Amino acid sequence: MKNIVILFSGNGTNLEAIAKNLKDSKDIKIVCALTNNKNAYGIIRAKKFNIKVEILEHTKFKTRKEYDKALVELLKPYKPDLIVLAGFMRILTPIFVDSFELIINIHPSLLPLFKGAKAIERSFQSDMKAAGVTVHQVSNELDSGRILAQECFNSSGLTWEEFNNKIKEIEHRIYPKVIRDLLTK
Ligand code: GRF
Repeated sequence: MKNIVILFSGNGTNLEAIAKNLKDSKDIKIVCALTNNKNAYGIIRAKKFNIKVEILEHTKFKTRKEYDKALVELLKPYKPDLIVLAGFMRILTPIFVDSFELIINIHPSLLPLFKGAKAIERSFQSDMKAAGVTVHQVSNELDSGRILAQECFNSSGLTWEEFNNKIKEIEHRIYPKVIRDLLTK
């Protein structure tokens, strides 16, 4: 059995898509879902799947490094084979990144384009005719680790709502697949 931990900050639709996909898995277990935001809607989604939820609020720490140290201490006992970032709105320091063998993230753009915050908005507003989603390994440089999966779509003529729906549809399909591929091959 491989253990995964999912980190999230908000709505948690990716968390839910992964939980649904792995619900009956005999190979992979979500041992914990951690959030830095005690009001995150993802907490309700995680509980629906009986996933253990940890809340570690960054506001209780003076520095990024102190927070990351506490995060590592909290997560190590879960012995994660993989850490999955699913809308975790924190820049992680090497204290966290170098503590785990494998950390992955999903980003709503065709990296290396539109790194950082508000990627969907910036991708939508650009005059590019294509947009997409990237799953990548987390490294010490923001949104820059090795690309593990990427899918694009024709974005011309789409409304903001259609654009968002397309991003979500791709995310919810490819993220569970990458997780399974990484842990069962
Ligand atoms: C997703 O769009 C993901 O690409 C980005 O944060 C968002 C999280 O959405 N990193 P949700 O909380 O999973 O609905």
